Amino acid sequence: MATIRKVGVVGCGLMGGGIAQTFAQSGYETIVSEINQELLDKGLKRIYGAWDTMAQKGKITQGQVDEYRARLHGTLNREEYASCDLVIEAVVEKMEEKIKLFTALDRILGPDALILSNTSSLNITQMGAVTRRPDKVAGMHFFNPAPVMKLVEVVQTISTSQETIETVKEFARSLGKSPVVAKDQAGFIVNFLLIPYLVAAIRMLENGQATRDDIDTGMKLGCGYPMGPFTLLDYVGLDTTLWAAEAIYDEFKDPFYAPPPLLRRMVQSGMLGKKSGKGFYTYE
Ligand code: 3HC
Repeated sequence: MATIRKVGVVGCGLMGGGIAQTFAQSGYETIVSEINQELLDKGLKRIYGAWDTMAQKGKITQGQVDEYRARLHGTLNREEYASCDLVIEAVVEKMEEKIKLFTALDRILGPDALILSNTSSLNITQMGAVTRRPDKVAGMHFFNPAPVMKLVEVVQTISTSQETIETVKEFARSLGKSPVVAKDQAGFIVNFLLIPYLVAAIRMLENGQATRDDIDTGMKLGCGYPMGPFTLLDYVGLDTTLWAAEAIYDEFKDPFYAPPPLLRRMVQSGMLGKKSGKGFYTYE
């Protein structure tokens, strides 16, 4: 099994930032990149803020905060990934972007390095096919908030080697996560079950069957879920949910998965949930 020491994360948004935070606080030298300085500064600020909060709550010491910060390196230059044993991407969920990125990473990284995708439901086989190492390409799908949620889906394409799967599982365990393995089919395990539930809640609201608040309260108190579907939709991001629903619908063409009109309209209007200040709820 390959030894993982130095790791890279492409993208420092909600997911990329949470993943970079998890890597650095688990002892890995971590490089994280963004497409411009503003986004990089914003992403790093969010991570530093999370560590400061953990220190204020007494969960970690100031010494640990300093150690974590020293292990995390932000850059705008992707060539710096050359020394990484593993790089995971968490960039926008658009196949053209992923293809460009995988082609570039394949050129930059050493021949033994793994290239992983945090995609929620795009086709990872297609990403691996543009590299010279499809056996070293796999999915490593984290859940939001990545530093807290214990699950990681390890996604095996038809070309991923068993050795790569074992390495990624072991790496996930070293982060304190529990890995589960899924085939590269849209939705993997969790989104295949979660997305229909979330879109059904939106349809229920569209049909006027119940109010937003009552649907949220129903699922929270009736099923013991930590968040009702609308709180969770806003938390995950309506754009991310739309992309995941579209991907699963495209793969299986089952209307059950089709994104409801309201979801699409909200995304088109810039209502993306918590990250944009407005979704089903409004945020300060
Ligand atoms: N870094 C470090 N710690 C964090 C953190 C972060 N970014 N965000 C939250 N935490 C910590 C808090 O500090 C707190 O720690 P403490 O209990 O030791 O004080 C703990 O997590 C719980 O947070 P809060 O007290 O703020 O709030 P809650 O108890 O309500 O928990 C929650 C928040 C963990 C988000 C919980 O509401 C939850 O589990 N919600 C459901 C989340 C979920 O379902 N996620 C999966 C979405 S699907 C997905 O991501 C897949 C994608 O492809 C669509």
